[in-house]
Amino acid sequence: MSKTVLAIDTSCDETAAAVVRGDVVLSNVVASQVELHKPYGGVFPTVAKQAHKENIDRVIALTLKRAQLTWNNIDTIAVTQGPGLAPALEVGISKAKELAELHQLPLYPVNHIEGHILSVLAKPKSKTATASPATSSSPDSSTSDSRFPVLSVIVSGGHTEFVLISEIGSYQRLGWTIDDAAGEALDKVGRILDLGYPAGPVIEQFAKLGNDRTYDFPLPMTTSGDYNLSFSGLKTFARRFVEQLDTDGKLNKQAIYDLSASFQRAVFRHICHKLNKVLLNHLDLGEVWLGGGVAANATLRAMLRQTIKKHVETMAKKEITLPLSQQLRVPYSKKLCGDNAAMIGMVAALNSKLDPTPHFDRQPNLKLS
Ligand code: KG4
Ligand code: ZN
Repeated sequence: MSKTVLAIDTSCDETAAAVVRGDVVLSNVVASQVELHKPYGGVFPTVAKQAHKENIDRVIALTLKRAQLTWNNIDTIAVTQGPGLAPALEVGISKAKELAELHQLPLYPVNHIEGHILSVLAKPKSKTATASPATSSSPDSSTSDSRFPVLSVIVSGGHTEFVLISEIGSYQRLGWTIDDAAGEALDKVGRILDLGYPAGPVIEQFAKLGNDRTYDFPLPMTTSGDYNLSFSGLKTFARRFVEQLDTDGKLNKQAIYDLSASFQRAVFRHICHKLNKVLLNHLDLGEVWLGGGVAANATLRAMLRQTIKKHVETMAKKEITLPLSQQLRVPYSKKLCGDNAAMIGMVAALNSKLDPTPHFDRQPNLKLS
């Protein structure tokens, strides 16, 4: 019988708690603080801490209720140890330690990035009895049908990286952003355009109304020889376009739509270019997974799928047959892309290399090992 995990994540601006049983999500509650942070144009750590403190008990009680379980049914507690905002992480960790002691349960500290990675393996409760066949947009996910080695592409507000996975629990970071994360770049350009916070979803909507070829952005780091990424140069380009449009009195709605489309394309084109490079040098890959807040973006998904397809076709022309599935594995719902606790529970349930411990501290800069 799979273990039942109550998981908590307070790494940034969402107070999140979930219950998972094995890879099945029984409940997944996220109390967003977006409205509180809007006036600051980003997440304000002490405001986040206070809101987590106010919300956490209610969120945990609600997730147990939605899972139709009581503490007697919980086998394990999992909590995000890092990376994240120190004051925010602290709230979830102290609560998890308190509950583990009260209910005499093992406690697992979890890496938030590993959570984003394994989020693609989560299954919804309703579909477990009759698991649907794989489809191109959302393949049926489970560890048993995963073809390792896998490449995970994590694209969020705090991280953008390529991670090679030889098996669950064994990770090698192949490349990462040397400055802003992709979501952060979208949010910063959104702030320049006064689109509110977070701007990623707004840019996705505006991009649909614009022409993505109107503004010409460069492709960063083409000669770097590695898999690292950089988005701050693209952001500077966007700022210059906005300033010029403003000076010329042409910063109208259509210009903002076109700029959103062009900038979004530039950010995703850069990720696809580096992905292609990784694929070319890792012909043994079985699958590509996508996780993180920006993974909710349909254009990013489509561009990544196109990159994988082209790679497989190019290799086929050279008579090289790849083990690579042409499907891009993505989380089954958008809620699992952004910060949530179900993905933290997945790590405790699926990574047999993890050990429980009641003694650990927050690690705001925790790296994947
Ligand atoms: O994973 P996440 O919730 O938090 C971090 O761990 O960073 O990611 C948040 C980021 C924000 O930058 C937000 O603008 C971006 O994900 N985002 C999107 C979309 N939804 C969220 N970016 C582009 N398109 C979206 N649909
Ligand atoms: Zn995250």
